[in-house]
Amino acid sequence: MSTSPYLLGHHEAEWRRLEDQHALWRDTILADLRSLGLGEGMRVLDAGCGVGSLLADLAVLVGPTGEAVGVERDVEAASVARARFAEAGHVRVIGGDLTEGPLPGGFDVVVSRWVLSFLPDVEGVVHRLAGCLAPGGALLVQDYDHDGVNVFPAVEGFSEVIEAFRAAYRDSGGDLYVATRLPRVYAACGLGDVALQPHAKASTPGGGAWTWVARFLREHLHEVVASGHLDEAVAERFLPALAAAEADPGAVLVTPMVVSVSGRLTRSG
Ligand SMILES: C[S@@+](CC[C@H](N)C(=O)[O-])C[C@H]1O[C@@H](n2cnc3c(N)ncnc32)[C@H](O)[C@@H]1O
Repeated sequence: MSTSPYLLGHHEAEWRRLEDQHALWRDTILADLRSLGLGEGMRVLDAGCGVGSLLADLAVLVGPTGEAVGVERDVEAASVARARFAEAGHVRVIGGDLTEGPLPGGFDVVVSRWVLSFLPDVEGVVHRLAGCLAPGGALLVQDYDHDGVNVFPAVEGFSEVIEAFRAAYRDSGGDLYVATRLPRVYAACGLGDVALQPHAKASTPGGGAWTWVARFLREHLHEVVASGHLDEAVAERFLPALAAAEADPGAVLVTPMVVSVSGRLTRSG
């Protein structure tokens, strides 16, 4: 059972961050979904849909003859998502928990992005998501293999800050390396045809990759200090060092690796 709240909190700034994050990464997940064959007339479930950023694209992909359903545990995020699809008859947002209680079924594709890295019982949740699939349906999880994140030239405190976030996820039962565990979990849940597609992005200051990582660190740094995962003095040195690096047009930031892991329900039922 997952009684712990969403580690990053639900409030308007986080919802805006989720929306902008989707704009940066949507090309990767849409390509993965198309290669799984998601298209017109199909039924797709977005498990842990947040404010519905990806769900909006899923609704377009399946069209009015299909159905796009989101499940979200947070009541307010779910109602923000529900409001944006009020006019779309083929989109539904359900308040629900991926770890317990009923989930809808019979989907051609179930997708879950940046949710499993927060959850302690990954196998239990994948088992439940596999249960939402129609025979022959596909599960696509996009989540972290957190190595690879780096900034050049080096910024004071950067690696301590990254390690603090990894530890905060770990201590709340999550795992920023969850993607690499999934093929074994998929096999245990009856999913075959497993495929992995790694994605990463990089940019100079002001570009998408830099802005995404720097904004996440700035908006959530106080939380890892408050939880005791980062020394306040390190945080105080890090913020001006990051700002100074942003004045260098030749600096480069590489994102952590995000891996899409797909599998298909090979047995019937
Ligand atoms: C980082 S956000 C990602 C949102 C969305 N998948 C996206 O890519 O924009 C993680 C979301 O998962 C939701 N979540 C976390 N645990 C959940 C659970 N057990 N059941 C349903 N939703 C959950 C959180 O409330 C949050 O909205």
